[in-house]
Amino acid sequence: MNLSRNVKGDIYYVGASDRRLALFENIYPIERGVSYNSYVIMDDKVVLLDTVDESVRGQFYENLYHTLSGRAIDYLVVNHVEPDHASMVEDVMRRFPSVKVVGNQMIIKFLTQFFGDELKERALVVKEGDFLETGHHKLTFVSAPMVHWPEVMFTYDVVDKVLFSADAFGTFGALSGSIFADEYDFDREWLDDARRYYTNIVGKYGAQVCAVLEKAKSIEIGMILPLHGPIWRKDIGYFVSKYATWATYGVEEEGVLVVYASIYGNTASVASSIALKLGDRGIRNVHMYDVSKTDPSYILSDCFKYGKVIFLSPTYNMGIFTKMENLLLDLKAHLWQKRDVALVECGTWSPQSGKLMKEILSSMKDIRFPYDDVITIKSHGGDELEEKINEMVEAIAK
Ligand code: FEO
Repeated sequence: MNLSRNVKGDIYYVGASDRRLALFENIYPIERGVSYNSYVIMDDKVVLLDTVDESVRGQFYENLYHTLSGRAIDYLVVNHVEPDHASMVEDVMRRFPSVKVVGNQMIIKFLTQFFGDELKERALVVKEGDFLETGHHKLTFVSAPMVHWPEVMFTYDVVDKVLFSADAFGTFGALSGSIFADEYDFDREWLDDARRYYTNIVGKYGAQVCAVLEKAKSIEIGMILPLHGPIWRKDIGYFVSKYATWATYGVEEEGVLVVYASIYGNTASVASSIALKLGDRGIRNVHMYDVSKTDPSYILSDCFKYGKVIFLSPTYNMGIFTKMENLLLDLKAHLWQKRDVALVECGTWSPQSGKLMKEILSSMKDIRFPYDDVITIKSHGGDELEEKINEMVEAIAK
């Protein structure tokens, strides 16, 4: 069944959503699915902008052929070579023998790595600032390296002020009922997934995102067409400002996370006590996470959202409890920074997870310890910890 939609004028959405996939990139849970967006411009020359993941090829071709109404594609613009968008490039080339594949040098190089050297013969190599005129539309290209791979470019239609933004401004979540962000309650339905998508997929590349946001200031953007999630045609500044906060590792909302690992519940009990004391102290937005229960992508996303985090971990194999260590290393890999943290360790004979957690966190940029000590739980937390916990809560709450 055809599910293509008109975006604006002669621009059409021909992508599709996958609600079956459990793990995006085989790592991130996506309870709400994901969309793989692809767009067609039905100008004098027909342009297809990016393809889709193989998993939705059937729907993609139904949408595409319906939209083309018998016409052929003249240009296939590839903004990003990652297979969730480019896996159908070779297949599209086979179906449309005269199509030219448009991309910068690195895009064409990566495509040949995936699909073989014959692709070069069909390539139209462009660089930043080049123009491709298709009739009414005039497309230009903006490089956006590391948002999210090094080859990425954005395509901008200077006539209609439309930005095809590759992974940028995308989000997890399948599209249902509308392709436009303004037809959803975005804050309620999408923002958490948008943050989790950004922080986990692109979070490490804040500097590069800032660079491309700076470039974007010089162009007038009337519409953003990302490769995942809904299209932006209203309140674009709202979402751009979210990106500016995330890309600069700024605090989006005041609050404290209490992130713990616990084997037999003793560390969990101290975590709960800390959370309650924070609440008593008047702190709102106190959120607790058990690292063994919650997928790290959710915790990492909240670590980007809030400014203060208390980590608690048992000592395990004379190290940090594995899932906590993985989370801390994941935060480090994503260049998480500019946060206040405090630490609690637990152990029965030789507790040292606190010292080891501090080593990892101290190697990260601008991680501050307003309560410098590590609180040690000797097997089971009791009244003897009360004073230290109160001091920690006070230091974090300030
Ligand atoms: Fe949605 Fe970097 O691919």
